[in-house]
Amino acid sequence: MKIDLLTPASFASGQPHEQYRWLRDHAPVHWHQDPDGPGFWAITRFDDVWAVDRDFSNFSSEPTIMIQDPENGGVGGFGPYKMMLMMDPPDHTAFRKLIRSEFTLPSAKLRQDRIQALAKQIVDAVIDKGECDFVAEVAGEMPSYVIAELMGLPLEDGRELYKLTEIIHTAPEALPEGAGPMAVAKMFEYGQDVIKEKRARPANDLATKLLQAEVDGKRLDDIEFLLFFLLLVDAGGDTTRNLLSAGLIALLENPSELAWLKADLPQRLASAREELLRWCSPVVYMRRTARRDTGIGGQPIKAGEKVVMYFGAANRDGEKFTEPDRLRLSRTPNEHLAFGNGPHVCLGQHIARIEIDAVLREVLERLQDLELAGAPEWLPSNFISGPKHLPVRFRPAKRKAR
Ligand code: HEM
Repeated sequence: MKIDLLTPASFASGQPHEQYRWLRDHAPVHWHQDPDGPGFWAITRFDDVWAVDRDFSNFSSEPTIMIQDPENGGVGGFGPYKMMLMMDPPDHTAFRKLIRSEFTLPSAKLRQDRIQALAKQIVDAVIDKGECDFVAEVAGEMPSYVIAELMGLPLEDGRELYKLTEIIHTAPEALPEGAGPMAVAKMFEYGQDVIKEKRARPANDLATKLLQAEVDGKRLDDIEFLLFFLLLVDAGGDTTRNLLSAGLIALLENPSELAWLKADLPQRLASAREELLRWCSPVVYMRRTARRDTGIGGQPIKAGEKVVMYFGAANRDGEKFTEPDRLRLSRTPNEHLAFGNGPHVCLGQHIARIEIDAVLREVLERLQDLELAGAPEWLPSNFISGPKHLPVRFRPAKRKAR
């Protein structure tokens, strides 16, 4: 089996499950060559991914969680500054603590009604057209609006920020020259305006909270704020969008499962959503770097070597999940790793679940005879998996009383 988890071509129609299967069966800790770097260990079994992600004392999130090192085109810190995603405890713990309370299950639940209202607004905007690009017009709208709400920004600005995120996440060769750095600069420029606005008029929102927060008795400076801002806009955008879009494809490709779900949506939505998370795993990988000589599943790992955890591969491991290659919306328990594990486990997972449920509820209840109206086009990315365009057709359904 030819293994290439770097080329975007391997991700051109979703995650490379054939390669993952071969790796899990034959080389679960596989040395992967990299023409642009020293190579890395690809980890594909559930138990290994689970363990590496928790083990920050052996496996560091510094200098970056991308395969490419910062000096080689990967995203890293800005001088001495780093995003929390690329820090280890105890620094990471101090930064995460600043916003943790905004993301607990009870805090997320307080936003449920508002998020449902946003989902209604999103579907209202497309329902009479009979067709749309599900990625841009439905799935992408939700996380843009939610991040704007969280930060206390106009909804329309959330959309603009989202467009910038998309550019930042697109492979540079697929963009006009300089478009990527320009998008980061615009994002920072916008962030600077937020700093001015929220310092002048503090409000009850996450942006104000971050500006007033202290680490070791010191307030966050502008760059620390901007990195938090970038992380939140980035982490919550593509991921949720891709789950909704790839999830819709999975539902349409499995009509009996979709029928099962629609037969009792309120009761079945939670298990269906978890199965879609397992099935799609929108974050392809996170990288760690060995801090010292260590080992994974009997394979020695040397200090400084890169270790890459493939969440989508772990989520189809037959040792963990029965019939892993079957979409079974009723699957319980479903302890997937789509949100990661350990100290960096997705901070936004409760909000993400509420967003996913809200959109699926509106879409499945209100758009009837939903079907693909063309072939989905997938993102050319080995890091984030999901369709870029998803043309769909539908008819408005009569609204049932809830
Ligand atoms: C379906 C949607 C989502 C998926 C699949 C997802 C997945 C992930 C994954 C895999 C990680 C890394 C975990 C690890 O290293 O173990 C992560 C981290 C993170 N996510 Fe999410 N995410 C989603 C939605 C969101 C949303 C909506 C937000 C915020 C509004 C968010 C905020 C974050 C943050 C801040 C981190 C970094 C946490 C840290 O470094 O401590 N995510 N997410």
